[in-house]
Amino acid sequence: MTGASRFVRACLRQPVDRTPVWFLRQAGRYMAEYQAVRKHHSLVEICKDPALASEVTITAAEKLDVDAAIIFADLLLPFECMGLDFEFQAGEGPVIHAPVRTVADVARLRTDRVSELSYVAHAISRVASHFRDRVGLIGFCGAPFTLASYMIEGGGSRNYIHTKTLMYRKPSAWQSLLEKLATVLREYAAQQVQAGADVIQIFDSWAGALSVEDYRDFVLPVTTTLVREVQALGVPVIYFGVETASLLPLMRQTGADVLGLDWRTPLDKAWRELDYACAVQGNLDPITLFAQPDLLRRRVHQVLDRAASRHGHIFNLGHGIVPETPVENVQAVVKFVREYKPQLNTETRP
Ligand code: CP3
Repeated sequence: MTGASRFVRACLRQPVDRTPVWFLRQAGRYMAEYQAVRKHHSLVEICKDPALASEVTITAAEKLDVDAAIIFADLLLPFECMGLDFEFQAGEGPVIHAPVRTVADVARLRTDRVSELSYVAHAISRVASHFRDRVGLIGFCGAPFTLASYMIEGGGSRNYIHTKTLMYRKPSAWQSLLEKLATVLREYAAQQVQAGADVIQIFDSWAGALSVEDYRDFVLPVTTTLVREVQALGVPVIYFGVETASLLPLMRQTGADVLGLDWRTPLDKAWRELDYACAVQGNLDPITLFAQPDLLRRRVHQVLDRAASRHGHIFNLGHGIVPETPVENVQAVVKFVREYKPQLNTETRP
């Protein structure tokens, strides 16, 4: 079985020869090869240059020997074609200079220039022709809520006060903003699928900031529409968020083929609560990568024990690799996933 078929089959809950594995943020600052490219180019320059973006994507997937590669890009790239400037400030994350706060700000956002994002599709084509079907290829975009929160807050946030204020007090502007985002994201995902992406992951990284009621009333409908539209392109969808334990049953209602689990929820408990009605991806705590090898191995095998060899588990972290992570520990996790033998491991672990 090739990496691509192992990965895509697991997304569809079909039997596989072993659990597929890849990592959130597998290409990034913890890797010397990325740092070397980053020395000469900004993050956005790398994203916009298909030769560089594809090289970074391929190097990371080959170095780790994973079953899937995720295209090197960023969640915020679609902002530019919608008319919002942003930059990444060293060590501080993204900054949007003129955040979206009013009805007029929402009305000004454009949805007719998605073709300007074609550099991502070009990078995907290059990765696809490099790997053929040896390695699965993941395209991605942000989810409407998480992108709206960056637009409105102007960057990362702790309490999402501006986002929730607009959501509560200007519901029609909120609706219009999410619909505009979904329009752009649908076309962006279509470009990526056409270029060769096997699967699309939708990152709703900050959905966990929402109560169950707010997620259901203000976010679920437009997200469901987007998930179904992306599936209609002919690819499985992975829908991922952090601190989502209480939201998982609603996230399931989007119809996503796979839900990404953060590491706070035991995988067996989360999957049972989902009635095993979708595949799951996750969910090792990314900071476990700082542990010594025997503990790391035990934790990797415990995640696999919790998945209990059911069809439809993709091994991953519960969130992205952090910059200080030792790369050899990430490689060790791939080895630990490969060597896992269900019947030998269940009794020996505390
Ligand atoms: O290998 C991969 O995972 C592909 C690359 C990738 C990047 N961003 C490159 C990047 C992916 C999948 C993303 C998605 C992304 N971007 C998310 C969702 C993932 C998640 O963690 O939930 C989010 C929230 C963003 C927005 C974003 N981009 C933030 C908050 C930051 C700053 C955080 C930090 O670590 O500094 C970025 C910058 C960014 N995007 C980097 C990389 C490799 C690091 C900055 C750099 O190289 O200068």
